[in-house]
Amino acid sequence: EKAGYDHFMLKEIYEQPKAITDTYRGRLLRDQAIIKMSGVEDNIKKFLNANRVIIVACGTSWHAGLVAEYIFEDLARIPVEVEYASEFRYRNPVINEDDILIAISQSGETADTLAAIKLAKSKGAFVFGICNVVGSSIARETHAGAYTHAGPEIGVASTKAFTTQITVLTLMALRLARAKGTITSSDYHHHLLELEMIPNKVKKALEYDNHIKTIADIYKDATNCLYLGRGYNFPVALEGALKLKEISYIHAEGYPAAEMKHGPIALIDENMPVIVIATKKGHYEKVVSNIQEIKSRKGKIIGIVTQGDEQVRELADHVIEVPETLESLSPLLTTIPLQLLSYHIAVMLGKNVDQPRNLAKSVTVE
Ligand code: F6R
Repeated sequence: EKAGYDHFMLKEIYEQPKAITDTYRGRLLRDQAIIKMSGVEDNIKKFLNANRVIIVACGTSWHAGLVAEYIFEDLARIPVEVEYASEFRYRNPVINEDDILIAISQSGETADTLAAIKLAKSKGAFVFGICNVVGSSIARETHAGAYTHAGPEIGVASTKAFTTQITVLTLMALRLARAKGTITSSDYHHHLLELEMIPNKVKKALEYDNHIKTIADIYKDATNCLYLGRGYNFPVALEGALKLKEISYIHAEGYPAAEMKHGPIALIDENMPVIVIATKKGHYEKVVSNIQEIKSRKGKIIGIVTQGDEQVRELADHVIEVPETLESLSPLLTTIPLQLLSYHIAVMLGKNVDQPRNLAKSVTVE
């Protein structure tokens, strides 16, 4: 049941510190400096010899795939493409035995993702699944895989599935980086240490809930909303926009911050809230200049910033802090305030948060 929370979504947002811990338990062995994932270990040669990795998924799981693209390429130097399962399966894709397909799905039942897996298998590719639901169709159809161990996700809007998918993908990237020698020993250890600290930092990020609620109250009547981020946090911007759309029915778009000047900047006026992910590591100065551009057009700025930030605080209408971490792990923290913001807006608007109109928890038809 809801364990005292008003909605499953809120419960699941708050479960994230535990869910992430459950995801890396038994896999991240920091004392021994190893990452143990049998699905990867048993197939390590395939992973190391792969020409490229193709990630297929839908919705929020596709956003987790986009985050993984940055981590895999950055740490393990493996070329990655991320595809909507529905596009991949109908595109006559070039794929063969030297490719690895990673399918990401909370439910393990998404029809398009399942069809993409079958297609890749028919071309001889090795298929790895990342699912939450044990024994699901995708878990059974893949050659190997890793479960997220997030526990049941009941709210239609995906929350803990997203952060635990990113956790699994980070563990995989680190394991492969170590095997390939593309990460230094100290960087590897630093990542393991920081990853272990993430659940506590998520707890800290959750402590801003009341502050986020007051911001939600100010912007709940907006009809449009823009989410911007760069690098690792570009997919988080997409995810933030999706969360707002699906449960509050407010139109929202996520963009890479630098793309703003190629179109969306035309939308900015005093009625446009712009949520900008502007954490300290990774293109910070560039994001700050994007914020200046929004401000000079009178857009309302909500900055997601690193604890103690001063520069964005001066420019923004509101800031929401998250603890400092490695850039590669920052999506696990920056996602949290965006989940809470959409949750509170949807509740204030009287929407059915756990079961938004027209949406199903698992999309078993194409
Ligand atoms: C968003 C959401 C959907 C799912 C998508 C994929 O909050 O819930 O976008 O992420 O339908 O579902 P799975 O991961 O079950 O394949």
